[in-house]
Amino acid sequence: MQLLDDASRRAAAYLESLNTRAVRPDLKAVARLDQLEVPVPQQPTPDGEVLAHLDEFISPATMGMAGPRFFGFVIGGSLPVTVAANWLATAWDQNVGYDAATPGAARIEEVSRRWLLELLDLPRDCALGFVTGATVANFTALAAARNAVLRRSGWNVEADGLFGAPPVQIVVGEECHPTLLKSLGMLGLGRSRLTRVPVDSQGRMRADKLPKLSSPSILCLQAGNVNSGAFDPFPELIAAAREAGAWVHVDGAFGLWARASKLLAPLARGLELADSWATDAHKWLNVPYDSGLAFVRDADALRSAMAITAEYLPAQGARRNPSDFTPELSRRARGVEVYAALKSLGASGLARMFERNCAQARRFAEGLKAAGFEILNDVVLNQVVVSFGDAERTRKVIEKIQEDGTCWAGVTVWQGKTGMRISVSSWATKDEDVERSLEVMVTCGKAAS
Ligand SMILES: Cc1ncc(COP(=O)(O)O)c(C=O)c1O
Repeated sequence: MQLLDDASRRAAAYLESLNTRAVRPDLKAVARLDQLEVPVPQQPTPDGEVLAHLDEFISPATMGMAGPRFFGFVIGGSLPVTVAANWLATAWDQNVGYDAATPGAARIEEVSRRWLLELLDLPRDCALGFVTGATVANFTALAAARNAVLRRSGWNVEADGLFGAPPVQIVVGEECHPTLLKSLGMLGLGRSRLTRVPVDSQGRMRADKLPKLSSPSILCLQAGNVNSGAFDPFPELIAAAREAGAWVHVDGAFGLWARASKLLAPLARGLELADSWATDAHKWLNVPYDSGLAFVRDADALRSAMAITAEYLPAQGARRNPSDFTPELSRRARGVEVYAALKSLGASGLARMFERNCAQARRFAEGLKAAGFEILNDVVLNQVVVSFGDAERTRKVIEKIQEDGTCWAGVTVWQGKTGMRISVSSWATKDEDVERSLEVMVTCGKAAS
């Protein structure tokens, strides 16, 4: 089909351009977006023209997130095989809610579940929901947590909701990700009625400050602080929670992947004793947006929070029904790209990608420190926070770096200090990209002095 050939040609040209174009969106292209504000089209437009129109207007107005020198937020690229697998899966257009209706797409999720549990060394009979991202993965796992801890207190949330339910004690770290709070809010557990445990200088929850837990309770821990990349001290915290009968959930949006490398796994030691875990595949696994993973040790807890039954829907068969584990009934077959990434890299390739990104983060820290700038975090994973001086100067330097276009990194305020966050999360980043970016960062940093 000529249209698909055209799309593939345009996509390839776009990806190739990322090595030479500015990482930030082109300002003229952003201004041109106003031209899209027209009344609803009354007449059809030929498909080829629609595609050309999208490419002309949107491609230059994108941020080069898929490229090798994007270090903002925590955003992976997309391994080429996962982009290609995504196209194929889009052509299949499978609604992967039910195994009976979409056996191929459902089976690929089941195989990926098994592979992931082995790679991340989590309990092998965990249930897994393929969701849109870590926010929804946290939401999904915490729905199972909420229902399970209340069930143990004699309350059936699925049937009766939260009205009149015993209060659930929710404990989070002072530096938990804001989307975790959003998930708790969406679950009716409140964004504010939480106990926030103080953290140390790296953002790790302080085990000596953990309050007394009493049933029903949920303790939310973190693998990979969004600024520092630090990990909570799991063994002590989980032991205390276990004793009190609390459910332990781990937000490991990117840090959970450390478990797939022998070198990095000690950082995440002990988290396998938790009850549920959330991570992103669209971050460090480098699959296209959107893709998140919700793992729950007690498969029945997740199934009873998420499954539905209806006359017209296929009944539970011998095989896993994907929609029994996710908030959505209908959704795309996002396990396809996860499977493609795991098959293409294998365990060794996966570990190499994570270890390479961590070494690149250390190189950023070392280069910036040598140039006289302060590194605000202990660089244990793929995250670096650097200060170029006071808040105003740091912001100005970040603006200059973004304007230059060689690379892109964003601002943060962490533990009272303004810094630039560098997150090295892409398969595409080569060591020479780090050197090129470092040179620009140092030049902009010195120019502001
Ligand atoms: C620790 C942590 N949790 C949750 C999230 C939210 O992830 P998503 O945007 O994929 O929903 C992030 C995003 O950076 C994160 O770093």
